Amino acid sequence: MIDPSTPGAGASPVPVILDGDPGHDDAIAWVLALAAPTLEVLGITTVGGNAPLEKTTYNTLRILTLLDRTDVPVAAGASRPLVAEPIVAPSVHGESGLDGPELPEPAVQAVQETAVELMARLLRSASRPVWLVPTGALTNVAALLLAHPELHARIAGISLMGGGIQRGNWTPAAEFNILVDPEAAKIVFESGLPLKMAGLDVTERAQFLPEDFEAVRAVGGPFAEVVADWLHFFYEFHHALGYAGAPVHDPVAVVALIAPEILQTQEMFVQVETAGQYARGATIGDVYGSTGRAPNAEVAMGIDREAYVELIVTAVRRHSERLAGGKR
Ligand code: BDR
Ligand code: CA
Repeated sequence: MIDPSTPGAGASPVPVILDGDPGHDDAIAWVLALAAPTLEVLGITTVGGNAPLEKTTYNTLRILTLLDRTDVPVAAGASRPLVAEPIVAPSVHGESGLDGPELPEPAVQAVQETAVELMARLLRSASRPVWLVPTGALTNVAALLLAHPELHARIAGISLMGGGIQRGNWTPAAEFNILVDPEAAKIVFESGLPLKMAGLDVTERAQFLPEDFEAVRAVGGPFAEVVADWLHFFYEFHHALGYAGAPVHDPVAVVALIAPEILQTQEMFVQVETAGQYARGATIGDVYGSTGRAPNAEVAMGIDREAYVELIVTAVRRHSERLAGGKR
């Protein structure tokens, strides 16, 4: 019901626009999306969050340079939330927003368009409706929806990482991406567009253990080293908090499009709290249908963790082979 164009066997690649704030897990989400034969990445837009916008944009260009995928256009988006004061997360991702292994300097620049302008242009020119895959605050997506109601029909759906039905991580009630811009999240959840939500309910189960990032390293070559080091960096932060592994949040929003069979999902009505004294930024899910409201989101609640690790190892292997062969 919610998903008219998730790719099936033999289908042409589904067009997507990625939007995020890299961030180690954003970077790995993009590694997964750019390796997926069932997706066509039309462009990437950036938002402030894990680090300020200048840094997330710079990191995006470094990631695409590392991947030798500078053909993908990048546009810088919102430097601040719609209403809220900016929040950044140097404790999680380091001062650069992507601390850890050394990365190349960008071989290209961002386009001159804003994120909304680039998204609008790509939506207009795409041969079929496009999935948006936001893995940061929802500011750019909300701004697009507000500025271009005529383009809603060009959006197949939104597969996002954000929120948590059962808990938060930045406050007891709120997950970071939603807390950064709750007003934007409210616009997205009330948009009426098909939504796939990969929140903490699933992403905190999507953990990489030390043997998993060593499996990534075992792919061999410099690219696999970088991804394994990103995972290791992310692990160290979370391990110190008591996690067994690193919850690799953002790629789950990509998994919802490329391998939905490894997720357990539940359709439900989800509202975003924008006013609460203790729960601003919470995603309130109507788990028992007590509001009588029709579901507005397909919420991922569980994942086959080993299959998830394998998807990422395979993506790293594909990129590594392509990079070693000098092919795009
Ligand atoms: C989300 O917050 C960010 O730090 C991560 O990149 C992820 O998108 C998890 O709460
Ligand atoms: Ca992110």
